[in-house]
Amino acid sequence: MIILGIETSCDETAAAVVEGIIGPDGRAQGRVRAQAMLSQIADHTPFGGIVPEIAARAHLAHLDRLIVSAMTDSGLNYGDLDAIAATAGPGLIGGVIVGVMTGKALSLSTGRPFIAVNHLEGHALTARLTDGVAFPFLLLLVSGGHCQLLVVEGVGRYRRLGTTVDDAAGEAFDKVAKMLGLGYPGGPAIERAAASGDARRFAFPRPLKGKPGCDFSFSGLKTAVRLAVEALPSLSPQDVADLAASFQAALVDAIADRVRRAVTTFTADYDGRALVVAGGVAANTALRQALQEIAGSRGLDFIAPPLSLCTDNAVMIAWAGVERAHLGLTDPLDFRPRPRWPLDPTAPARPGAGVKA
Ligand code: KG4
Ligand code: ZN
Repeated sequence: MIILGIETSCDETAAAVVEGIIGPDGRAQGRVRAQAMLSQIADHTPFGGIVPEIAARAHLAHLDRLIVSAMTDSGLNYGDLDAIAATAGPGLIGGVIVGVMTGKALSLSTGRPFIAVNHLEGHALTARLTDGVAFPFLLLLVSGGHCQLLVVEGVGRYRRLGTTVDDAAGEAFDKVAKMLGLGYPGGPAIERAAASGDARRFAFPRPLKGKPGCDFSFSGLKTAVRLAVEALPSLSPQDVADLAASFQAALVDAIADRVRRAVTTFTADYDGRALVVAGGVAANTALRQALQEIAGSRGLDFIAPPLSLCTDNAVMIAWAGVERAHLGLTDPLDFRPRPRWPLDPTAPARPGAGVKA
């Protein structure tokens, strides 16, 4: 199966060609033939966050060139493709429309089927491409827009164990970074600053720690950081480092508590062997260490795809296309882009669970 994938749901414009097979036993094997990506971060940095209109226009300006580049590098012709997969939601709708329309146009002109991919399913299935992980597995999806714990039962089959009731984890990193004058995107800046900080200087709250369920909350933690900043006469570089370190420790601790509870449910209800992390916040070393420890102590494998495949990319969309095409799951050309598209439609609607535009 050879699939062209297109990703335009946020601030990365990307195209990739991925080749893969799913064995009769469900085992996955794939390889990336080519990829081309353009980050728009420089376009949005002056505004301290992503501006949807700027994002949509940038996708429109660059997507066709990136597709040509990926196809050329792959050494393949359009006729060699088995399908064209594009992110059809959830995400910033202007960008999603650009990717979906381009995917449909290519589908129409090449006669190859179109596959509408849920961006979150792209993140969720990446570990099958990189590590051949078998279903079912437990997934922590932590990005700028999402923060959820899901059991990945199979392609298109998800059970949500928990999600954020307010901010996503990456959003909390970005907002706190702004308070500390660290710029956008906040996660990498906080992690850098935290490296020389004292995580014990500020005793920040661990929201929902010890509470039933696996939901997340970060707004109380964010407020605590803001109050600590306001209580300081000025922000020295050491203050910033200590605030960043204390915030990161609290956030990782809060997430770890939720993950432990999810592991308990997962191991009781499923015969699965892996804890997988995905999304941009998976780049965070402190978080990875905490997850590794939890998995190790509970007899699960810990799987973290390479950083370039944790953040938004088109390889994961092409790979989700491989998995869907294998099951014969293609979509009609009147498929409508979806700003909201939760992976588990039976779970109650919450922000950060594929229901936030
Ligand atoms: O998955 P992603 O690239 O885009 C979304 O779909 O949201 O995730 C971006 C998010 C941003 O909020 C960014 O601050 C966060 O991931 N992030 C990090 C790190 N690198 C990126 N958060 C914490 N630590 C990092 N090293
Ligand atoms: Zn994403």
